[in-house]
Amino acid sequence: MKQDLIVILDLGSSQNTVIARKIRDLGVYSEIHPHDITAEELGKLENVKGIILNGGENRMVDGQAVEISPELYDLGYPMISVDYPQSKCKTQMSGFLNQELLEKFVFEDCGAKANWNMKNFIEDQTELIRKQVKDKKVLLALSGGVDSSVVAAMLIKAIGQQLVCVHVNHGLMRKDESESVVKVFRDELHANLIYVDAEERFLGKLENVADPEQKRKIIGGEFIRVFEEEARKLEGIDFLGQGTIYPDIIESGTKTAKMVKSHHNVGGLPEDLKFELVEPLKQLFKDEVRACGVELGLPPEMVYRQPFPGPGLGVRCLGAITRERLEAVRESDAILREEFAKAGLDKKVWQYFTVVPDFKSVGMKNNARVFEYMVIIRAINTIDAMTASVEKIDWNVLERITNRILDEVENVNRVCYDMSPKPPATIEFE
Ligand code: XMP
Repeated sequence: MKQDLIVILDLGSSQNTVIARKIRDLGVYSEIHPHDITAEELGKLENVKGIILNGGENRMVDGQAVEISPELYDLGYPMISVDYPQSKCKTQMSGFLNQELLEKFVFEDCGAKANWNMKNFIEDQTELIRKQVKDKKVLLALSGGVDSSVVAAMLIKAIGQQLVCVHVNHGLMRKDESESVVKVFRDELHANLIYVDAEERFLGKLENVADPEQKRKIIGGEFIRVFEEEARKLEGIDFLGQGTIYPDIIESGTKTAKMVKSHHNVGGLPEDLKFELVEPLKQLFKDEVRACGVELGLPPEMVYRQPFPGPGLGVRCLGAITRERLEAVRESDAILREEFAKAGLDKKVWQYFTVVPDFKSVGMKNNARVFEYMVIIRAINTIDAMTASVEKIDWNVLERITNRILDEVENVNRVCYDMSPKPPATIEFE
């Protein structure tokens, strides 16, 4: 292994990730592990230079104080404990682990080297993946989103043709999105890629379904069924690759922190399809995942793309989806993205997209009355997607986008700009 490692043991602090980030910012790799890790498990981690016992406000779980296994003290690693009164370490402190103390612990007490960088991380993960997978095959659902794309690139580097990627085009992708997945992964990275054109199947299932939750359930459920059908056709697959990243694990709940929301990347596969998981990004934060993707040679537009919901344009073609309105969403979204890129807004605005409601309004085209749909533009900024504010777009840019949509997108005679922050509105409309 290339990188030195500082282990943080989670004894109920909400600051675990903050400390992990601070250590990584010092150029030293750091991982958070549960408090009940055994000496044997810890012994399997390579290049451990020191351990931080990180206690805090959640130190009682089910009426019992969380504690580490006493045998960890005998392993001989440098240890520091923070807010952990039961600690038996010598370097013990309460309150905040400030920068000075942290640097002293990491570099002086542990003698760790600042050798954490993406190149080393990729080499380490490549080695770990090869050790785990050996000569077996890994299946991966490749949506084209940042996380699944980076996992795919990492697995291609580690095991090449032993990776089987399945890209399901549910017909709700943005313009040219599926084509770019095929171009990058099959043509350029020579991945073993199965492309499933499931557009008709998804649109068929969604016909006349107007309820947003129902639409989401159908899209999610159908996705799993299509993926499962492909998995059953393949032989000798033992592993399932997943784009799980560190925030997914935190939000799904740790042993000392409650669940915020459950995350399923390819959740809900049937019990009889038994796979062992390969999750090479599970210790990375989102910005680190992007850096990893760049280092692996993925195109910047794939790595720095804005968030895109799993149900895709399905939740932006409001109400019951029709092909006509879906096309209007797709074309107007492409124009918006093109114009935002030209104006440099793609690097400034967190998320921007268009939606098309399921009602019409009166207008005039070529001196005749028309009754057509409207496009709503939404552009927001946020840090964590829990709250969001509206981007104050330059009027000239808005005018240009509006004119292009009215000129180029069929069945549309009106364009609106959504001025609503979150809350009370959510970012998406459905
Ligand atoms: P809302 O609409 O809840 O969206 O304010 C917050 C963020 O989450 C994205 N979003 C999703 N992402 N699957 C995803 O992976 C989904 O089903 C989904 N729904 C919403 C949304 O685009 C925004 O960035």
